[in-house]
Amino acid sequence: MTFSRAIKIAPSILAADFANFGAECAAVEAQGADWVHVDVMDGHFVPNISFGPATCAAIRPHIKGVMDVHLMIAPVDPYIDAFAEAGADIITAHVEAGPHIHRTLQAIRASGAKAGVALNPGTSAEAVAPLLDVTDLVCVMTVNPGFGGQKFIDMTDKVRTLRSMIGDRPIHVEIDGGVDPTTAPGLAKAGADVLVAGSAVFKGGSASDPGPYGENIRAIRAAAEGTYT
Ligand code: DX5
Ligand code: ZN
Repeated sequence: MTFSRAIKIAPSILAADFANFGAECAAVEAQGADWVHVDVMDGHFVPNISFGPATCAAIRPHIKGVMDVHLMIAPVDPYIDAFAEAGADIITAHVEAGPHIHRTLQAIRASGAKAGVALNPGTSAEAVAPLLDVTDLVCVMTVNPGFGGQKFIDMTDKVRTLRSMIGDRPIHVEIDGGVDPTTAPGLAKAGADVLVAGSAVFKGGSASDPGPYGENIRAIRAAAEGTYT
């Protein structure tokens, strides 16, 4: 994975057809997705259950590019190797998921994956200040995690603060929750480079009729890049 701050659109398969993940991943990539975002929920850290490492391993052969695994689970550490072995390129853990996030990020890097740290809307940017040397991505949640399709919570000030804390370090700033062509421009301007979008990408299409996925991805990218086509 070479580092770049260019805008990347990362469809969240939480909004895909759960009976058809392989074809859905291939379809969004063919329609212009940069990364595929995979939301893992445990019914404990968040009030919903999605799927685990076996599902990640099953979809991996259907993703040519980056598999971005967002762990909404606690504890995290006992499962890191399973997600790395499932082929995750990036593994993101929440700063709120336990008392030892620094150790968790070190363990993710030791597994061979890039290490991401996610911040709930109620957690301030300063929580990641001591972690920047062990972090490859900061995920700013713009909804309270657990469900797709929720209303966007404005975290623009937090994104701006993080971007200036990060400076020249090769650390991505990812936004997760309620991203669409109306919310993307302010986020990109504040310094985000990875935009996760579930409902705004998968609406109107399917793996057998993927054209709308492409239109949706292009609309978010154009809005973020400021071209408004
Ligand atoms: C929320 C998840 C998000 C979510 C995004 O807990 O981490 O990735 O699926 O979905 P939308 O884009 O529909 O808000
Ligand atoms: Zn997510």
